[in-house]
Amino acid sequence: SHSMLTDPFGRTIDYLRISVTDRCDFRCTYCMDEDAEFLPRKDILSLEEIVQIAQAYCSLGTKRIRITGGEPLVRKNILWALEKIAALPGLEELTITTNGSQLTKMGNDLLNAGVSRLNVSLDTLKPERFLELTRRDKLQQVLDGIDTVTQLPFKRIKMNAVILGGYNDDEVLDLTQFAFNKGMDISFIEEMPLGHISHHDRAKVYVSSDDLQASLAKHWQLSPSDNKTGGPSRYYDVLGQTSKIGFISPHSHNFCSTCNRVRLTAEGRLLLCLGNEHSKDLKSVVRAHPNNPLVLQQAIMDSLALKPEKHHFNLEEEPQILRFMSATGG
Ligand code: GTP
Ligand code: 5AD
Ligand code: SF4
Repeated sequence: SHSMLTDPFGRTIDYLRISVTDRCDFRCTYCMDEDAEFLPRKDILSLEEIVQIAQAYCSLGTKRIRITGGEPLVRKNILWALEKIAALPGLEELTITTNGSQLTKMGNDLLNAGVSRLNVSLDTLKPERFLELTRRDKLQQVLDGIDTVTQLPFKRIKMNAVILGGYNDDEVLDLTQFAFNKGMDISFIEEMPLGHISHHDRAKVYVSSDDLQASLAKHWQLSPSDNKTGGPSRYYDVLGQTSKIGFISPHSHNFCSTCNRVRLTAEGRLLLCLGNEHSKDLKSVVRAHPNNPLVLQQAIMDSLALKPEKHHFNLEEEPQILRFMSATGG
């Protein structure tokens, strides 16, 4: 069905990202500090409420839903919600972005629940560095999880790597070769200034996607791919490989003009843009009108008027967006 959601800039919104929890079992340095505070349980949408909102979106023409966090797989009973969402009429794909820590245990359940694609975050293959970057000593757990899911018949699995100059930029080739060996695509992400972090100066560690592409092009022959997943990643085909290399470049290649998505935070705030505060409180709507799809649909349609044209990320300034990625859902 055609999407009934078009924003003031003519962009069709048919992709919803849902953060099901702001909690995480890692503490990635670019995402949060060690002493991060999490939302009280009562402020979080119930899984039933999340499913009602997802259903309202699908009835308005939403075709893709991606589940994010925090770490979505630490949310209790998440499989129940995944099954419900996967079965919503009109939905073409249910995907999930995870840090990989639960995949050995849950990989098969995700497949059975109806998840078609997975994105797994992995920024380093070195255990000591993994400990520094995530503040948890769990590299082997993630590697085991990747081994589990790459042997299951998911449609596609992608690895995400945030590259920080001086921390892991020397691993770009190794990470890529690792993804190829496992039959995964890989996207390199420019760090975005969400929330104050104390570990590093984001302006100092910035490495542009073009620099990464130049070093990759010395080892592999890349050509622009017509592959589109609906996300902001610009994909390249690699001669002799089935895997693709993607770049998510909010700083160097702004992709806002083709934005097709909105985000639901764990506390039920509908964020119209990752890099702006414009939002609509859907929690109060779904709580005041439980099981009333028409009221939710109207609130969702009204919210689109608030969608800004683009983000204004600037690494040289103090972060303008004080929420962390974990509270935002990537
Ligand atoms: P697909 O949508 O399935 O292609 O996956 P994806 O790569 O977009 O999703 P994933 O959850 O793996 O996110 C990878 C990175 O892209 C994260 O750092 C996200 O924050 C970022 N990202 C996704 N959508 C947007 C967006 O609209 N704006 C910005 N600035 N970043 C985004
Ligand atoms: N900038 C860019 N990417 C980030 N991620 C988390 N925080 C940031 C940030 N500040 C990434 C994670 C994961 C994805 C959901 O977002 O590494 O791959
Ligand atoms: Fe957790 Fe993902 Fe944030 Fe890392 S980036 S702390 S894995 S939510």
